[in-house]
Amino acid sequence: MNIVDLRSDTVTQPTQAMREVMASAPVGDDVYGEDPSVRQLEERMADTLGKEAGLFVASGTMGNLVALLAHAGRGEEVILGDLSHTFLYEGGGISALGSIHPHTLPNPNDGTLDPERIRLALRNPDDPHAPRTRMIVLENTHNRCGGIALTADYCNQVAALAGEHGLIMHLDGARLFNAAVALGCPAADLTQAFDSVTVCLSKGLGAPVGSVLCGSKDFIREAHRMRKLVGGGMRQAGILAAAGLHALDHHINRLAEDHENADVLAHGIAEIDGLTCPQAQAPATGAWTNLVYFTVDGAAIGRPQFNAVELSKQLKAHGVLAHALGSDGKKMRMVTHLDVGSSDIETALVQLRSCLTGT
Ligand SMILES: Cc1ncc(COP(=O)(O)O)c(C=O)c1O
Repeated sequence: MNIVDLRSDTVTQPTQAMREVMASAPVGDDVYGEDPSVRQLEERMADTLGKEAGLFVASGTMGNLVALLAHAGRGEEVILGDLSHTFLYEGGGISALGSIHPHTLPNPNDGTLDPERIRLALRNPDDPHAPRTRMIVLENTHNRCGGIALTADYCNQVAALAGEHGLIMHLDGARLFNAAVALGCPAADLTQAFDSVTVCLSKGLGAPVGSVLCGSKDFIREAHRMRKLVGGGMRQAGILAAAGLHALDHHINRLAEDHENADVLAHGIAEIDGLTCPQAQAPATGAWTNLVYFTVDGAAIGRPQFNAVELSKQLKAHGVLAHALGSDGKKMRMVTHLDVGSSDIETALVQLRSCLTGT
């Protein structure tokens, strides 16, 4: 059976061309700073994002963790969204390993944080009862908010507020290039507002492993210490970095295809009775990208027991993989990527229609 795997953009297989550049990559011991491919990737990503320096890390989680460990100290507070990946899905690492205090604000559907709410959340630095507000973290694209891309204007507005109060700005840009392609702007326009940025190579860009953290030279020096501390010093990591360099050369512009496929999928889903998909409507601001979230309402089709968990099981039996999410059994997510073509989207829609109509 041909499997259409829409669980995540992390499931991609390295292409043959990517495997070939990995196999022939010049390498060295990166803990000694001697891996030319890692150096090249770090410099290239920093240049692309308009930052002074970069640091190759094992994952997006590690990039965000070492960034926050480098920026904030024990008991200091970070303002971030209640639906942010760092708050929900990174094992509470910033608290467990950094004693950093998370202060969550609600993420509305557009993935932003309301600047007025940020202003109200700031602590009085002279009040000994309060933790010190140290930094703000945004996420672009915003995963749980439907993969929506945040605009440069919005990020700059938050940065202006951060600047007034001497706060640091970090961006979880796991899918930053999706945002840049969807908004039609250089990636550096979306990173200008931030002191540091994590970008993943192993999601839409199709590399097997790795993320790059970028920022000032001083910040990267400190992040380098933190990467060692969490066991993230890797040796001949150039084999992995080479895949990242190949992805930067060949897999950025094609993200537009993933967005097009996601759009077709979202509109197809919205036409199926019992399914609701916000991504079939134009967003008020920003742009949709490659994540498609939808809700399953069995009652609407006279099958109250039918929910996202059941739908995911039935789809799997027909070769379409997708995640059911959340505790209410209503939400599902499908993600387009390098290994999914337009015919796979058609297959997914055929199977969805068949599951919902029970035929
Ligand atoms: C928005 C966002 N940030 C960070 C991460 C963490 O990346 P990793 O799985 O490489 O640790 C993810 C993973 O899906 C993500 O979606």
